[in-house]
Amino acid sequence: MKAKITLLPGDGIGPEIVDATRQVLEAIASRSGHTFTFSTHLIGGIAIDETGVPLPDDTIVGCRSADAVLLGAVGGPKWDDPNARVRPEQGLLGMRKALKLFANVRPVKLFRGLEAASPLKAERLRGVDLVFVRELTGGIYFGQPKGKETRNGLRTGFDTMVYDEQEIRRIVELAFQVARKRGGHVTSIDKANVLATMQVWREIATEVGRENADIRLDHQLVDSAAMRLVTDPSSFDVIVSGNMFGDILSDEGAVLTGSLGLLPSASLGEGTLGLYEPIHGSAPDIAGKGIANPLGTILSAAMLLRHSLNLDEDAKTIEDVVQKVLDSGLRTADLSGGQRSLGTTEMAGAVVNAIEAA
Ligand code: IPM
Ligand code: MG
Repeated sequence: MKAKITLLPGDGIGPEIVDATRQVLEAIASRSGHTFTFSTHLIGGIAIDETGVPLPDDTIVGCRSADAVLLGAVGGPKWDDPNARVRPEQGLLGMRKALKLFANVRPVKLFRGLEAASPLKAERLRGVDLVFVRELTGGIYFGQPKGKETRNGLRTGFDTMVYDEQEIRRIVELAFQVARKRGGHVTSIDKANVLATMQVWREIATEVGRENADIRLDHQLVDSAAMRLVTDPSSFDVIVSGNMFGDILSDEGAVLTGSLGLLPSASLGEGTLGLYEPIHGSAPDIAGKGIANPLGTILSAAMLLRHSLNLDEDAKTIEDVVQKVLDSGLRTADLSGGQRSLGTTEMAGAVVNAIEAA
């Protein structure tokens, strides 16, 4: 298999974790006889510094011509002025829109041996294995009109939450497909008791549910879903939601595992091109220190192999090897509880060695 992979290291720890993950992809390529060619492009704060914009055209071209895109993280205190004309996050949002990546898939799985790292009690965690399917190119993030203006002498900000039935249907249908390969259960999140957008959401989700009667569908209001995520997380299988609710709930879901550093994500569209990134941010406090946990990005690369390159076996190798490395007691600083820990490169090296031995 020959594949073109575009790397978008971005800001903060982004370059370190993407570099580490590239070594893992190279190890997989040489083990399985693939040829991966990599090209690197700018996004986020570093793109603002070097070109004046968070998403240069050249980056979009580089992503469109690739088979898959691996992203580190964007953002940092340097570009954090909320009133700045350009912000690093616009790069990420613009990329999702430009590549029509309407679905964000975020699996939340516990790793054996890391139960103690979770803020939840072990008995609450038993059986937790869920996936967020978040709508990514619509809703309040993109709805028009949005802006800031003075109304009656008062500084006023406004955004629009809007979804049409096509947008709702395609994301809910995707959630059903995901559920069919897992636990056969979809929970659709809305706020239908208050928001008109979410009444339409529930109506369409119900229709899709009727057309897919083999899958169990329930509806839950976003506020009570937030509660259930920490009181009874194992009762979820696939959670489907709009853009903003999914943003919030998926961060909440991520802490169940005890480390944001371990969780991958995939942003997918109609075709096979996808953008893969760890769900954690750019961690400016530890950037450049060589201690960031690369496993979330490495596991994102596994999702990349599975979804964009159809390399299920190689994806599984990476996932198994990560569990094996954790089983052997190796930890980066975020998980070591102050005990001896490995740096980013060493952790990636441990994964590479385990791949070569697998
Ligand atoms: C995420 C992030 C982004 C979002 C930010 C960086 C724009 O929080 O991917 O969840 O809100 O979608
Ligand atoms: Mg988020």
